[in-house]
Amino acid sequence: MRRDKGCIGRMFALNRHGPKRPDKDNPMTLPISRRSLLGAGGAFAGFALAPRAAFAESDRIETLIGKMTLAEKAGQLSCFGDAIRPPRVPFNPNAVSSSAAAQIADIKAGKIGMLFNGVGYSGAKRAQQAALESRLKIPLVFAGDVIHGLATVFPIPLAEAGSFDLDLAERTARAAALEATAVGMHWTFAPMVDIARDERWGRVSEGSGEDTWLGQQMAVARVRGFQGDDLTDPTRVACCPKHFAAYGAVQGGMEYNTVDLSMETLREVHLPPFKSAFDAGAATTMSAFNDLNGVPASGNHWLLTELLRDEWHFRGLVVSDYTADKELIAHGYAADDRAATRKAFTAGVDMSMQSGLYNAWLPDLVEKGDVPVAEVDAAVRRVLMLKEQLGLFDDPWRSISAKAEKTHVAMPATRRLSREAGGKAIVLLKNDNDLLPLSKAPGKIALIGPFGDDKANLAGPWAFMNDESIGVDIASGIRARLADPAALTVVKGAEVDKTIPGGIDAAVAAAQAADLVILAIGESQDMSGEAQARVAIVVPAPQQALAEAVAATGKPVIVLLKHGRALALQGAVKDAPAILACWFLGSETGNAVADVLFGAVNPSAKLSVSFPHYSGQEPYYYNHRPTGRPAPDTGSQEYKARYRETKNEALYPFGHGLSYTSFALTALEVGATLTPTGSVPVTATLTNTGTREGTEIVQLYIRDPVAIRTRPIRQLKRFERITLAPGASKQVAFTLTRNDLLFWGDKGWTVDPGTIDVWVATSSVDGLQGNFELAA
Ligand code: BGC
Repeated sequence: MRRDKGCIGRMFALNRHGPKRPDKDNPMTLPISRRSLLGAGGAFAGFALAPRAAFAESDRIETLIGKMTLAEKAGQLSCFGDAIRPPRVPFNPNAVSSSAAAQIADIKAGKIGMLFNGVGYSGAKRAQQAALESRLKIPLVFAGDVIHGLATVFPIPLAEAGSFDLDLAERTARAAALEATAVGMHWTFAPMVDIARDERWGRVSEGSGEDTWLGQQMAVARVRGFQGDDLTDPTRVACCPKHFAAYGAVQGGMEYNTVDLSMETLREVHLPPFKSAFDAGAATTMSAFNDLNGVPASGNHWLLTELLRDEWHFRGLVVSDYTADKELIAHGYAADDRAATRKAFTAGVDMSMQSGLYNAWLPDLVEKGDVPVAEVDAAVRRVLMLKEQLGLFDDPWRSISAKAEKTHVAMPATRRLSREAGGKAIVLLKNDNDLLPLSKAPGKIALIGPFGDDKANLAGPWAFMNDESIGVDIASGIRARLADPAALTVVKGAEVDKTIPGGIDAAVAAAQAADLVILAIGESQDMSGEAQARVAIVVPAPQQALAEAVAATGKPVIVLLKHGRALALQGAVKDAPAILACWFLGSETGNAVADVLFGAVNPSAKLSVSFPHYSGQEPYYYNHRPTGRPAPDTGSQEYKARYRETKNEALYPFGHGLSYTSFALTALEVGATLTPTGSVPVTATLTNTGTREGTEIVQLYIRDPVAIRTRPIRQLKRFERITLAPGASKQVAFTLTRNDLLFWGDKGWTVDPGTIDVWVATSSVDGLQGNFELAA
């Protein structure tokens, strides 16, 4: 049975006195930077509701619960894809299972607590009106997958994470909330905080990459950006860190696959971003599809109740992923719908998404004594609390405004933000002989590849309300920068996954007639995202052949990669003198790319995921544990931990990214000793040794080289974006505490005293090294 301690009085009492105190032995409850400390404080206030209304509203909720029939309770615990405003592009199986008229009738009958992925004022008005005509007049919540923007699309979260710019992540989430609320939404199924270390998985694109610390920081920034300090603000959305938990660890990177993880890896790698998001005030979470060590996450009592409620004291709402409750049957964890309902609900899933199981079976389960009504009431209370937090009881029409829909969507400021984010997300992987940046008159340019003037793949996955009319393609962005726009020739050469008859010949002819080739190649947007796992993370063969033919002309080639994951670059793509990782950048793709190509923006992003040499190296991530036979950099590699065909170093490691200027780190100083309650300072000097202003992301890594548990060879623990004029220097100062050294041991969080290595670096493989003593 689930254990619910959340009686409404206690909930509000807790809220009035602020969040639970951080546990000093749990790294996930502690502030993770000065900035996020400030952030977390503010966001707690958001989740804690406006204290003014607390007790009066608890009466309102209790009165409502007292009046509800079991069927009405099950209705509040059920949500469905919006059939009144079906999405333009279907992106879930059977996303619309009902007609608009049938759904309106269900709302009036009190069978629906929330609708998702509908967009637009008039449909929202119709649906909300129906809810207000239901017996108890409980307003609906409208939710949606607003992952990286809505009409104005920002870079995919994986790309944005590479900016290491928390302020940017907060601002893009805030802007997305503004657009989402303008089209009638109250709740976003974001941020996606799954740590993903296997690039074959398609949903790598939706998260912050392979590093837990970066993932925690991004999670907090996005929660703040979406929710702000007061959810009753009609331009804010409740957020839903997902997918709880460990979905990013699906075996072999195959979508929906099982997950088998040690408690150490679960606790240290996959759970911290969730904990940080909850501590920052996230109002809800979503239970994952995957099986976790033999118990599906959406039927996992340990995960959803013992950990989430009892240990972490999370008070918000848990919604299942799409039909994840029903999928307990296919998992082999429940025999039929009734058992699946009982298992999901008693494990801790408050709200059922799309399966309809709770409507069908919860009343019966309660009537026959298989589920206590008190537990149903507790779950209903959480749904009503969310509605209360959003201010929906006082104003069911919040965020439903014909005017906002016209004025708040695709605003110039939002598009400027998308362009800024794009420029900050592009990673300069390689720039031999300073081929980049280009001058305004670089001679004749041949823009070759399927993405040159393509508008259909700007947004990337999960951008279902993308306004394609505002999208700027690469060719348009480049042309706008050229002194002579006619100097640009655009040739496709190949489709994403298919050859074009005569395509390569045309591309080669264009290359020969040009002074410079820009190759816009990579993945289409439907090659990443949900259900888009790949067996090989490569540039598709027809485009690779195109690249080989074009490179053979001997013209200088700049590669612009479009991708939703790290890629194993091969042949002419890998050997091109300049490579920009451009991901899916969203609405302003072409302008952001041109800003970097022509040097208006000096690239500063770093990789949030490691690029391996070969797909077969996946899962491939920098912060792995050592082996007993590490392969040496030089000398014999026989009988060492390695593959026959390649070395272990990354093609491009996590944290790598070049600039048009150069930087040097000097003068590392590390405090001598870290006492249990003290801190240790780590300082170094960063100098811009080049000729342009630029931004470096200084990264602090640690390693505990000898411990009672083998520890990762490096772990990111701090970072800072620093912008410097040419010749300028700045001291960067970090502080580490015992908390940064904790790991999961036999009895929970612990440390192992002794020497700790520290690097202040510009990637996960370089840096100045020092150490300090961690005292007992
Ligand atoms: C995805 C979720 C998403 C939900 C609703 C599911 O298939 O896994 O991330 O929020 O659909 O669209």
